[in-house]
Amino acid sequence: MNNILVLGGTGFVGLSVCEKLVERNGGGDGRITVPTRHPNRASHIQPLPTVEVQRWDPHDDAQLDRMVRGRHAVINLIATLHGTEEEMRRVNVDLPQRLARICAERGVRRVVHVGALGAAADAPSRYLRSKHAGEEAFAQSALDATVLRPSVIFGEHDHLMNRFAALQKLFPVMPLAAAGARFQPVWVDDVATAIVRLLHRPGAERVIECVGPTVYTLRQLVELAGRWSGHPRPVIALPDALGRLQAALFELLPGAPLISRDNLDSMKVPSVASGKAPTLEAIGIRPRALESVVPDLLGWRYGPARLDSWRALARRR
Ligand SMILES: NC(=O)c1ccc[n+]([C@@H]2O[C@H](COP(=O)([O-])OP(=O)(O)OC[C@H]3O[C@@H](n4cnc5c(N)ncnc54)[C@H](OP(=O)(O)O)[C@@H]3O)[C@@H](O)[C@H]2O)c1
Repeated sequence: MNNILVLGGTGFVGLSVCEKLVERNGGGDGRITVPTRHPNRASHIQPLPTVEVQRWDPHDDAQLDRMVRGRHAVINLIATLHGTEEEMRRVNVDLPQRLARICAERGVRRVVHVGALGAAADAPSRYLRSKHAGEEAFAQSALDATVLRPSVIFGEHDHLMNRFAALQKLFPVMPLAAAGARFQPVWVDDVATAIVRLLHRPGAERVIECVGPTVYTLRQLVELAGRWSGHPRPVIALPDALGRLQAALFELLPGAPLISRDNLDSMKVPSVASGKAPTLEAIGIRPRALESVVPDLLGWRYGPARLDSWRALARRR
């Protein structure tokens, strides 16, 4: 497995996956290709040895075929959480379906696709329904493929705990929709380790649920982010109607919304292990707890600890 294609390798999980692949390759002759629509935004992975970044249009079959041809293994991390029905179909459904077909045609030996916990044909949100259809493209194929289904993922560059910390630094109170929604957050490093390990386990489990050791409500996550970043704020749980109004207003702002009505619909399904599928322990990973990773990350970035390095420089520690 030394010629690997990482779709979505520029993203949050992709960076950790590329780092693990490089680590495992250990200066060997491995080749890791990361296609991207925006090579100019890929400077964070460009310096990794043996990683080659290439510009592409993921919706062009000929380019997808060219990327897949000759690879031993393919990892798919591409997905969109926001966007119109059409955008979600193209990215979360059509792309995995085209990828599964081309991987089969080109005889790719191993595929790992990242789905999402809660994805189902009758899920309450567009995102989860589209993620289900994407997972099915691999589940129903004859490929040697594993689908990883994570709960929310935390880590240095996450959009979860970092965002809650940043908001609490800015605002005096936190009006929160879906405060009771349940999650079982998993560390990005554990997800990346699982992906890389699975590449080297032909015939491994078809589906693995990726969760951490503890279930939290959204309110608890926000409160922890506030406390660990040094800016704890009162959290005010919004009633459903007000939460939807808040999300509708965010959707009017330019760029990806802080939260959308479709995100709120996703949160109607607890993002926790089903108990019916193997979890990370099945492949020898004991997932790290949020408490053992995030306090340092947030304390360093948002709290007084961020000044420690300057104090040290000024010899005041
Ligand atoms: N992060 C989480 O908490 C979480 C939780 C559960 C499941 N997942 C799943 O894990 C996978 C990786 O998540 P992530 O957070 O690392 O994703 P991400 O950073 O948001 O995106 C990964 C990559 O997908 C590509 N991409 C995004 N939107 C696209 C679009 N509209 N069209 C084409 N390409 C697009 C981008 O590549 P370029 O811009 O370089 O082309 C991006 O670097 C996804 O399948 C996601 O659904 C994530």
